[in-house]
Amino acid sequence: MSFSSFGNKFTRHSGITQLMDDLNEGIRGGDDILMLGGGNPASIPEIEAKFKHKLDELNQSGALIDALGNYDGPQGKDTFLDALATLFRETYGWDISKKNIALTNGSQNAFFYLFNLFAGKYHDGRHKKVLFPLAPEYIGYADATLDDEVFVAAKPSIEELDGGLFKYHVDFDHLEVGDDIGLICVSRPTNPTGNVVTDEELQRLDVIAREKGIPLIIDNAYGTPFPNIIFADVNPIWNDNIILCLSLSKLGLPGARCGIVIANEQTITALSNLSGIIALSPGSIGPELALPFIQDKSIIEMSEQIVKPFYQQRAEHAVSLLQEQIAVPGFRIHKPEGAIFLWLWFKDLPVTCEELYQRLKQKGVLVVPGHYFFPGLEQEWQHTHECIRMNYSQKPEDVEKGIAIIASEVNAIYAEHNR
Ligand SMILES: Cc1ncc(COP(=O)(O)O)c(C=O)c1O
Repeated sequence: MSFSSFGNKFTRHSGITQLMDDLNEGIRGGDDILMLGGGNPASIPEIEAKFKHKLDELNQSGALIDALGNYDGPQGKDTFLDALATLFRETYGWDISKKNIALTNGSQNAFFYLFNLFAGKYHDGRHKKVLFPLAPEYIGYADATLDDEVFVAAKPSIEELDGGLFKYHVDFDHLEVGDDIGLICVSRPTNPTGNVVTDEELQRLDVIAREKGIPLIIDNAYGTPFPNIIFADVNPIWNDNIILCLSLSKLGLPGARCGIVIANEQTITALSNLSGIIALSPGSIGPELALPFIQDKSIIEMSEQIVKPFYQQRAEHAVSLLQEQIAVPGFRIHKPEGAIFLWLWFKDLPVTCEELYQRLKQKGVLVVPGHYFFPGLEQEWQHTHECIRMNYSQKPEDVEKGIAIIASEVNAIYAEHNR
């Protein structure tokens, strides 16, 4: 059996495939595997209780079976779109209606639509690319395009901070946005690093995108107002050149596969048409379940008062354990400003991060080697082989055991090297 070019491209072993394989292995491996690799959100009992209660209510009233028994339109559930538009209008004063919002089957699905809408081959022969102005970036963007050679990434500048921390910044002095760029994309907070691009950086990117006449995607999967896993004090931004992507996943509903895109009407119409062809319509259970929390705006309070402090405490605990136990000179952690990961940098690591990943896997801890997170970075850069990403938000006992193993392995690697 042979596959088409499409088949060959989308079945090769990508970074995201390895991650999903590991995730499965981690889940199947039960208690033996410490799963710090995947992007699964934590289970937060208070949040789960709220969803369970609401599901019971929806079941009692018949709304759940109604949602299951009907297709929504290709743009997504109308009442949910209206409620979202009201929430964003009233919370941030954005001039939007439901015509500015489309739902997708998870935001991952939205990136596939959006990247292919704006990048790749154009009818006049031009080939446009997606620019990631701040590598490292989300592993799930890599490979999400029909055409090849679509991604370009810019190396960041590194600010060394006190307390063994560092922070990446967009290196505007070296950022080139040529005429071959069709789209700029940045996750904020960033997966894998926990970085939050500053307001000033975002405003500068917004100006560049508008000057070039290309959209700026802000991937707000962890951002505000929900799930609000963001510890830095920054402001949300949207205008009709910005495509803001949100998701219900990190609030605790990854299985609902509900992505939310806020953009100008032309982009939303395009997404809606794509959705009709590719999926008929987005799933209706996530929107049905989340609707009451959006309508009474309690989603904002839940995110601010339950979700955010939960993650912030977990992040701080994991940072202090790592710093206590890892005793090698070049060890740094990216300042945890949001998202559900810590990004560990071992300056002058004697082995590659891939080797470190394999050694940790042998010892029963799954993390993700850092080099996957630089899609589109053309230049060789040692730093890409010196970092790993770990999910800090899983069960505390697993994170504690996992950190102890990471620390002993890293300490041993440096000791072997110095012998
Ligand atoms: C930065 C970022 N964006 C988007 C997604 C996709 O999430 P979903 O498709 O569940 O909405 C993820 C998932 O881990 C992510 O980390």
